[in-house]
Amino acid sequence: MKGLLLAGGHGTRLRPLTFTGNKHMLPIANRPMILYGLEHLINAGIREIGVVLGPIKEGVKELLGDGSKFGARITYIDQPEPKGLAHAISISRDFLGDEPFVMYLGDNLLKQGAKPFVEAFESGSSDCVVGAARVDDPRRYGVVVFDERGRVKGFVEKPREPISHWALIGVYVFNRKIFDAIERIRPSWRGELEITDAIQALLDGGARVDCRFVQGWWKDTGRPEDLLEANQLVLQELEMGIEGRIEPGAKVTGNVGIGEGTVVRDGATIRGPAIIGRRCEIGPNAYIGPYTAIGDEAIVRNSEVENSIIMSGAEIDCGRRIVDSLIGHRAKVLSQERNLPRGLKLILGDMTYVGV
Ligand code: DAU
Repeated sequence: MKGLLLAGGHGTRLRPLTFTGNKHMLPIANRPMILYGLEHLINAGIREIGVVLGPIKEGVKELLGDGSKFGARITYIDQPEPKGLAHAISISRDFLGDEPFVMYLGDNLLKQGAKPFVEAFESGSSDCVVGAARVDDPRRYGVVVFDERGRVKGFVEKPREPISHWALIGVYVFNRKIFDAIERIRPSWRGELEITDAIQALLDGGARVDCRFVQGWWKDTGRPEDLLEANQLVLQELEMGIEGRIEPGAKVTGNVGIGEGTVVRDGATIRGPAIIGRRCEIGPNAYIGPYTAIGDEAIVRNSEVENSIIMSGAEIDCGRRIVDSLIGHRAKVLSQERNLPRGLKLILGDMTYVGV
């Protein structure tokens, strides 16, 4: 079986962070998001992986290379415009050949990975296996509709009415029948060849489509708040160690990871779960609260940070409390004033400067 990892699209809902780079390179617990999907495919036993990239490729090829350092073989597939998930499959036809394949959306994170879906496909006689999870707001997703006996009845992309609370989770296993189904569909109102329409066409053509329900958490990281939630979910379970230096007088409690070359200065407090990258400077006079991830070479002084993603090279020295924020690579939040009472909630693109 082959894998198709999708990392195209514009990532418009995550602007300004995606103006300067590919959405799938944004860090969750200090690792680019795309690595989670890649690992899930590899853990499912897949070695030949096609990575679909749109016009914003920054960093992806450099990170993944030819796949050999992950024990896989990666082929890059160019999708100049995000014309839909079914379009991404049809342009990958040469790479996929006639083998079954699993498509994994690179902006999805799920605890159980792709393996159960691959196993369900391999042990049964389905033409397609999809994953589904219960959601409160189905209008944001493609949904699976079931009949009164619980059998798969149909698929609808971003339903206006909540006709089903079962969202498609971004892991799909197909055999070659999907190619003919894609031939039979037309672009949707949003101008995309929708995967839901293609699966509906499979079903209408008499193919067998099965659905597996997700065990454990699942997160589509479309919006800034989703990134923070994914960061929390991963940090909650991550095994971390302390490699950096904690000066006497600094306090580190709970599950905390501190990278090599990082210094936590006297008087600083870190309360986990939290991860601090390599060669960072934390303190003096800093508090890092739960669910914070701080990338390599970042500086936090005279400030408090909680439930936030601070990317590599960022500098925070503002005398304030920063919460629920996303701060891009090498962005700066600086202030000469101290002890101001209000908190800040920020979504800052790479290299932004904020003086408060
Ligand atoms: O997250 C699950 C949902 O993903 C499903 O419930 C929906 O049925 C499915 O259509 C999809 O919906 P989104 O609107 O969230 O898709 P999005 O445009 O965010 O793209 C999903 C991933 O696929 C993302 O990693 C970018 C990539 N992509 C997207 C498009 C449209 C491509 O590589 N090429 C594309 O043309």
